[in-house]
Amino acid sequence: MDRIIIRGGRTLKGQVPISGAKNAALTLLPCALLTDEKLTLTNLPRLADVDSFGHLLNELGVSTKVQRGTDGSIGREMTMDAKSLASTVAPYDIVRKMRASILVLGPLVARAGEAKVSLPGGCAIGNRPIDLHLKALEALGAQIELAAGYVKATAPGGLTGGRYSFPVVSVGATENALMAAVLAKGETVLDNAAREPEIVDLANCLVAMGAEIDGIGTDRLVIRGKPRLNGARYQVMPDRIEAGSYACAAAITGGELDLMGARMGDMATIFDAMRVTGVDVTEIEGGIRVSANGRLKPSNVSTAPFPAFPTDMQAQFMSMLALADGTSVLTETIFENRYMHVPELARMGADIQVHGRTAIVKGVDGLVGADVMATDLRASMSLVLAGLAAKGETAVHRVYHLDRGYERLEEKLSAVGADIERLSDG
Ligand code: EPZ
Repeated sequence: MDRIIIRGGRTLKGQVPISGAKNAALTLLPCALLTDEKLTLTNLPRLADVDSFGHLLNELGVSTKVQRGTDGSIGREMTMDAKSLASTVAPYDIVRKMRASILVLGPLVARAGEAKVSLPGGCAIGNRPIDLHLKALEALGAQIELAAGYVKATAPGGLTGGRYSFPVVSVGATENALMAAVLAKGETVLDNAAREPEIVDLANCLVAMGAEIDGIGTDRLVIRGKPRLNGARYQVMPDRIEAGSYACAAAITGGELDLMGARMGDMATIFDAMRVTGVDVTEIEGGIRVSANGRLKPSNVSTAPFPAFPTDMQAQFMSMLALADGTSVLTETIFENRYMHVPELARMGADIQVHGRTAIVKGVDGLVGADVMATDLRASMSLVLAGLAAKGETAVHRVYHLDRGYERLEEKLSAVGADIERLSDG
């Protein structure tokens, strides 16, 4: 397994190109299943999860053609053709490696009247059930059966429009329901739907494919189903979590980074919290400039669904606050086990106490480099950020977690002054 070595203490300055959003790409890719015409996605990030999703689509009989971007963005272009599906089964050996595979369930049952997807199971940050995905599809007339570790959804006569109000805001369940509803007969109303920018990106792509959706960006989506959708060409939105992570890199190293391609509207709450720490955030031509302003001040944050502070930024923000001049209180309201970076940060000298969903972060004057273990995607980035500021050398092990969500991390950080390299254990 690879590891990343960082020699900390360097101030980062320069431009960081922001890639297409992982969590948008993973819900846009399955849209190819909704049409027998070609869907081309541009600005796709070069990430392990995107490649895995391409393999899953191939398994289902979707032909995929990947090429360098031709739309001026930094990402790749993938053209998918699901003219004839060879299978409606997403097998265990693929799903276990990428839980977002569950997002083929809604499109498959909508297009083919059936789908069989291995249950994704839990992951490091929580047990992550899919009950809301299934209840939403049942509201559209799907029959759901759970057996031998698989979920089977059938709708022999096709799906019918229905109403469903999510008891808990769920990004994935909203995505599955939305992708199913666009081909259901009649009207569907989804209440308490997730409003994340990635959902807006999905809805905009579906509209480009001929879907009829009202309430995009709100928590009430009204969809009038169509008998079929057409192909389209659609650009993936920029990754607000990648951009937020690099904003933290500027803050924690006392530097200044221009996040090229980032969109302010997606990141308002992230930047509100960063401004509390004394960081300057300003819009510039083509991006957003994040400049540190002396020692960071503490900032209290509670994660919640969009437009609140995103759970996917909690670990990275904690690393910054570990060096603030005072005590910060972080509350993680979305996932039950998203503090696995805390013991690793403590190995570097951070002073953090976890009580259930709350973390008390007492700022220290400095961190010291150490060997640390990545446990999940965003925790890994929090360790990289700590290493950038720490005195001495930090080795982050199990960086395959990072490769799932951060494209060309070492390259982007080296380009703005970080002393960072990847070593292969193999
Ligand atoms: C998406 O996961 C993201 N992943 C996650 O990003 C992100 O943390 C999460 O949304 C919240 O914003 C992708 O988009 C691929 P949820 P998802 O359904 O859809 C509970 C990253 O780091 N729930 O919004 O799985 C669930 O347990 C990843 O990029 C149910 O109870 O998240 C959680 O407590 C990590 N039943 C809460 O809802 C369900 O059927 C929110 O989960 C579904 C969810």
